[in-house]
Amino acid sequence: MSEAYEIIDHEYDVVVVGAGGAGLRAGFGCAEKGLKTAIISKVFPTRSHTVAAQGGISAALGNMGEDDWRFHFYDTIKGSDWLGDQDAIEYMCKEAIPAIIELEHYGVPFSRTAAGKIYQRAFGGMTTHYGKGTAQRTCAAADRTGHAILHTLYTQALKNHAEFFIEYFALDLIMSDEGECIGVMAWDLDTGTIHRFRAHQVILATGGYGRTFFSCTSAHTCTGDGNGMALRAGIPLQDMEFIQFHPTGIYGAGCLITEGVRGEGGYLTNSEGERFMERYAPSAKDLASRDVVSRSMTIEIREGRGVGEDADHIHLNLMHLDSDIIQSRLPGIAESARIFADVDVTKEPIPVLPTAHYNMGGIPANYKCEVIHPTKKDPNAIVPGLMAIGEAACVSVHGANRLGSNSLLDLVVFGRAAANQAAATVTPGAKHQPFGSDDGSKSLARLDKFRNAKGGTRTSELRLDMQKTMQNHASVFRTGEVLDEGVKKIDEVYKGKDGLKVTDQSMIFNTDLVETLELDNLLSQAVVSMHSAANREESRGAHAREDFPNRDDEKWMKHTITWIDDKGKTKIDYRPVILTTLTDEVEPVPPKERVY
Ligand code: FUM
Repeated sequence: MSEAYEIIDHEYDVVVVGAGGAGLRAGFGCAEKGLKTAIISKVFPTRSHTVAAQGGISAALGNMGEDDWRFHFYDTIKGSDWLGDQDAIEYMCKEAIPAIIELEHYGVPFSRTAAGKIYQRAFGGMTTHYGKGTAQRTCAAADRTGHAILHTLYTQALKNHAEFFIEYFALDLIMSDEGECIGVMAWDLDTGTIHRFRAHQVILATGGYGRTFFSCTSAHTCTGDGNGMALRAGIPLQDMEFIQFHPTGIYGAGCLITEGVRGEGGYLTNSEGERFMERYAPSAKDLASRDVVSRSMTIEIREGRGVGEDADHIHLNLMHLDSDIIQSRLPGIAESARIFADVDVTKEPIPVLPTAHYNMGGIPANYKCEVIHPTKKDPNAIVPGLMAIGEAACVSVHGANRLGSNSLLDLVVFGRAAANQAAATVTPGAKHQPFGSDDGSKSLARLDKFRNAKGGTRTSELRLDMQKTMQNHASVFRTGEVLDEGVKKIDEVYKGKDGLKVTDQSMIFNTDLVETLELDNLLSQAVVSMHSAANREESRGAHAREDFPNRDDEKWMKHTITWIDDKGKTKIDYRPVILTTLTDEVEPVPPKERVY
């Protein structure tokens, strides 16, 4: 073990990495069940990216009309373009209802109907009667639902005495020689000390990797650190080619304008003032699923019907909405439009553009949140001691395309499931096994390497190269040629990390070093995403290939599994999609054509 660092050892039953919605829900759930639980977060918990979620959280409560969790189950499978695992989708949609009631009891200040029930709005792809009607299923706290949920979960974590390690940057997993996860290495950004956490169960809740893209709705902190840690531990990532573009990012700024705007009656128009979604999705129109709307907008722009001086974006109209609705249900987006686009939403349309928003792929996990490391013998083999939840995980409930408002749901349902699974498998206070060949030294050697990097490239320059490559080569529409070029370019960018220059060697609030470690995490995910995308020769959900425009269930109804070694060399394999349900309360949904 390196003598260059002050190392402080800790022992916990459970260590959760990440304090967004999923991490907090899992963390306080474990603490509530008597497990000694640490929650490590690189930012103050209420600054986690969940805070930015706007439109709401789905659950078939039926407060605004008829609904059933089986309709939600069907919509989610169709939304996933039949890449979602149906056992996990059943679990999520059924558990959604008690999960929301639980949130209400914890104190989430949901908006209300006149009768005092939780208010629910329409969202894309959410229907009744298996595609026949429009469901109002998305429970909202105005347009600040993530903010309301995150703050409530944080208070629950304090109440249940989860122990926080705030502004600690998680460096690496510690694995036993038998392949079990037994702990985590972390750096305390404030004191510069290194912390070695022992745990019987590590839960990765580190969010997505939106910052691989130049224009995204994700916070600067969304660097997929847990995914990077998993890859370094030899664990593959799943379905990384599926990257969601939200139709309505503010043009030029990337900030999210919630789908809830369209749920409340807003609509998109092109330069001819036409409500073009009526042509692409005659039934759902502006409330088709996100991949469909983003593609339609891109086609309009390409065919010369974009708006603005350069005809390169689209208008989102809400001028016709009652100002009471805007004030009570959409106050946040009215403010964002004013600040970031200089637009008064009561008088002018908001300029919008599809913007990278969500990663359907991540660490493969089952519905109990156990991490899967598929082997030739067992495609569902698990990594003992390791769970993954939230956007970091690929459970896979979202398959090839996530429906809006299923993400906040995923966080709380699987956060709670992880706590239940930990309580069922961990004995509080059990003795920790001794370290094997991995005692954290390898992680510190990597830290040292970057801390003393003396090359000629600044971290921000290499990051920009990566972001531009992803933006230009793994966007809404893809072709073999563009992807193959993207593979070459991103492999080259990856090699650039050997030439990085870190100017500050301090261990105390060294943002240059933090950003370099984050970039290392981002780079491996960018490479894995590009290779996985180039390999999948079909169109499914968010992966739209112009050279392979159709979904090919015979060849491609399977999850991509991708590893990367420390030289940046990838290996790709596949595992089957789970097409069976957990119970006989619902029938599996066989694949069919996906029209909205
Ligand atoms: O549009 C939105 O409010 C985003 C919601 C989501 O991504 O689930």
